[in-house]
Order: sequence, then structure tokens, then C-alpha cells
Amino acid sequence: VTRSWPIEECAAWREWTTPKGLHEKPVHRWYIFPHSYTNELVHALIDEWNLGEGDKILDPFAGAGTTVLGAKERGIGAVGCDLSPLAVLAARTKIAGLALGSLENLWRELQPLVDAQATARKIGGGYPALVRKALPVPLLSVFDAIKRVLAEAIPDGPERDFFLLGLLATIPTFSRAQATGGWLSWVDNRRPARLIPETYAAVIARMLEDVPQKQPSVSKAQWVVRTADARKLPDPDGTYTGVITSPPYPNRHDYTRVFGVELMFGFLDWEETRELRHQSFQSHPEARPERNGTAGYRRPEGLAQTVREVDSKSNDRRVARMLDGYFLDMFLCLSEVNRVCRPGARAAFVVGNAQYSGIPLLVDEYTADAGEQAGLECERIVAVRHRGNSAQQMGRHGRSPSRESIVVFRKP
Ligand SMILES: C[S@@+](CC[C@H](N)C(=O)[O-])C[C@H]1O[C@@H](n2cnc3c(N)ncnc32)[C@H](O)[C@@H]1O
Repeated sequence: VTRSWPIEECAAWREWTTPKGLHEKPVHRWYIFPHSYTNELVHALIDEWNLGEGDKILDPFAGAGTTVLGAKERGIGAVGCDLSPLAVLAARTKIAGLALGSLENLWRELQPLVDAQATARKIGGGYPALVRKALPVPLLSVFDAIKRVLAEAIPDGPERDFFLLGLLATIPTFSRAQATGGWLSWVDNRRPARLIPETYAAVIARMLEDVPQKQPSVSKAQWVVRTADARKLPDPDGTYTGVITSPPYPNRHDYTRVFGVELMFGFLDWEETRELRHQSFQSHPEARPERNGTAGYRRPEGLAQTVREVDSKSNDRRVARMLDGYFLDMFLCLSEVNRVCRPGARAAFVVGNAQYSGIPLLVDEYTADAGEQAGLECERIVAVRHRGNSAQQMGRHGRSPSRESIVVFRKP
């Protein structure tokens, strides 16, 4: 029998579990991932857990870096991990402690070089078909030429990352592939290539507005973002006193597809992108990560039943396999969280329940169960939103609303 946990309602946090609020937040707005929360949630948890100087926070699924930057805003050390090089670049740039004067000087030198690329017609790299379809030749030539200007004019490091992030943030304005919600859709975008330099300049101007004249004198070593797998963390035991994170939801959205154009324009070739897709958390049917065993994980009883029902109703066999793999991944990650946390540490996992063929999938409760199997205590499940209340959402999510919750654990 599956243990059940009391579900607390907390509508006050509702607006903080979508990324909408981040669009107006300095630095956060430089790059935003779908399905993120806002820095207010990070601050609220920091206050609730009474964290302060001397504490250290982990986000094993850092995405665009809301937790690490939110912790930095409160002067608390934080480490973020992510498998995606796009996420690592975005999060790392946000916490880099850049100096305004130096960036402005660089931009004064760069801008004429960037403007001169408005009519570039040669493409340097061999870009995969997806990138060429999203950015037909005139567009891709200009983006590619600006990318090469940045690589030639700025040494590898946070300042080059800043200007590259701005370029990546400019792509959707011109791309024919648009991320709508969690999917990529194709649109007839006719914005001409000659507008790329001025659009990019506007993005950079807005980013520069957020860089403080003077950074406070703190040790930069307190904030780190690195490439790592949430199921196999590189940290020694007992490193952290808090974890604030949101794993990908088991809703079939695949970040390597949603950000496919940016990944293959800036970082990876087609093969490497496919490899990232396979190795990612098993939240979409194409993931098939290699794992070293199951480390004693038992499927929560309710889950076994749900997976059987979904399998009998769905015509895609991969969905049942994905759902099973999702909670094994959750268990492996929670085991690592338990290992790298100090006794008494708190961990908040923001998760979303889902529905398959009308069958509800209680992600929050199975996450609580997986965490307890991993050695953590589930303190509470806080329900922040109910998706599926409107007629339109009902069509999308099925008859009953799906909770979005924060599962809070404590390391005994
Ligand atoms: C819901 S997003 C996190 C959003 C984040 N809260 C933010 O502020 O943008 C989930 C992230 O998990 C990452 N991810 C997927 N599988 C992973 C794994 N095995 N280890 C670490 N990160 C992973 C994805 O690349 C994605 O950036």
C-alpha cells in the first residue's frame, strides 16, 4: 500500500511556479527556460528554512539558473548542475559577477564589427539540417558571422559567454522554429537578416542595463555552475544545507528538441544532441539513459498500477517505459541529494502531475515515496496550482485538474 502524505494548499505561491515573473527581473530575464519558477520562490524557501551565511544550496537541474542566482541575491553560496551546455552557459553567465565598464568597452569595439556582418553571405560551420531549416541561409550566415566575430574578438571566458548568450537570445526573433510551451512549432517568420545586428544590439543594451556599476566584493567561488548529471553528482558527502530544484516534468517535452536550434547553433553537432537526448532524465519517450543498476529502488505500488493502465490504453509502448524510468531517475537523483546533504538539510522539488489517456499520474506522491526510499523524510507536499480548471485546459489535461506541487524533504 502506498503511503499518502497530507497535501497542503498554498495558492499564494501560485505565480512563483511559472517563469512569467522572470521576464521583468534583472539578469534573470537574460535567458528563461519554460517550466521554471521565479526567484521569489527561492527567497521564500530560504526564509522558511532560515538559511544564511555559511549555508550552501544545490540545484541539480539548474536550467537557466533561477536557484543559483536567487541564492546569490541573498548572499548564500550555491551550486548548479545541468547536462545541457545551453543551460550551463545561461546559468553561469548570470552568476559571473561581470564588470559593467569592461563589457561596455568591449561592446564599443564589437558593435561596428557586428554591424558589418548584416550582409554576410558565407556560412562557416557545417550546421545540421534543423538549424538550416529554422534559419534559412541569409539568416544563418549573419548569425554565424557574428558568432565568429565574438570568438575572434573576445578570449574564452565570462565576457564572451555574455555576448554569446545575447546572440542565442536573439535567435527566436528570426527563427522559423518557435518554442510554444514545451514544443517546437514551425511559423512563417519573414523578418529579414539585415535586422539581426540591430536586434542583437537591443538585446545587449537591455542586458547591460542589468549589470551593476560595481560588483559587491564577495568571493566568486561561492557560486558555481557545472556540467553534471543529477543522478551522479560530483560532490563529496554532506556538502549542502538546502536543495531547490525542478526536474523535467514527465510530460514528453524534450529540452533538446525545444532548444535544438540553439544547441546545434552554439554547442553541439547532431550526434551530440542526440546523445544528450538519450542521456537526459527519462521525462520523454526518446530518453534511454544508461544507468548502473537500480540501487534497491522499488516501484511505489500505486505507480505499478498506473503504468499498467496507461500501457493498456496508450498506443505508444514507450510511454509506460518512460513513466517507469522517470521515477527510477527521480529515486537515483534523490539518493544523490541525500548523500550530498548534511543532516537536517531541506530539499524542495517542484514537480507537476500529469495525465495519460485520462489516467492521473501522481508525480508528487511518487516523488515523496522515492525520496523516502532514498533515505529522506517527506515533510510535506505543497500544492501550488491546479492545471486543468478551464474548459480549454480540460481538453488538454483530461477531466480532472493536475496538481503542480512542491515536495519538501528533510534529511534526518
Ligand atoms: C525544468 S528545467 C529547470 C529549470 C530551472 N529551474 C530554471 O531556473 O531555468 C529542467 C532542467 O533539467 C535538465 N536535465 C535533464 N536531465 C538532466 C540530468 N540527468 N541531470 C542534470 N540536468 C538534467 C534540463 O537540461 C533542464 O535544463
